[in-house]
Amino acid sequence: MKKQKAVRFSISIPANLRGPLDAMVSARGYANRSQAITDLVRSGLVEHHQQTANQEVAGTITIVYDHDKPLLQATLTDIQHDHHHVILAALHIHLDRHHCMEILALRGRAGLVRKIAEQLVTAKGVKHGKLTITTTGKDLKAG
Ligand code: NI
Repeated sequence: MKKQKAVRFSISIPANLRGPLDAMVSARGYANRSQAITDLVRSGLVEHHQQTANQEVAGTITIVYDHDKPLLQATLTDIQHDHHHVILAALHIHLDRHHCMEILALRGRAGLVRKIAEQLVTAKGVKHGKLTITTTGKDLKAG
């Protein structure tokens, strides 16, 4: 990716954040404060975009469920077929004799991605579920 031209502007932060910031810069191996703050801004922007239902996002949904629960697998598969245009890939892992884990990769409007995650995670028999939203990368240029 093409390197972006940097812009320079001054910001002020509370004095008591300077020490912890410099400690983080050194602990994470950033070259300087600007690099660390760029990363913080990027992750803040990703989070901000997730709040906008219309924003296109990429994400993964991980669910762990009881494979012996009647009809659960069919319910989960139905939900996925209903949203086949948003679910790009699905990985099914048989964890043990009774438990399955599914990892789905999605790309779509944040509101819809959230809705699909909610439907899957709240299905009766799902023991744990988690949605991770990230950027599609289009709106964030690499440094
Ligand atoms: Ni399985």
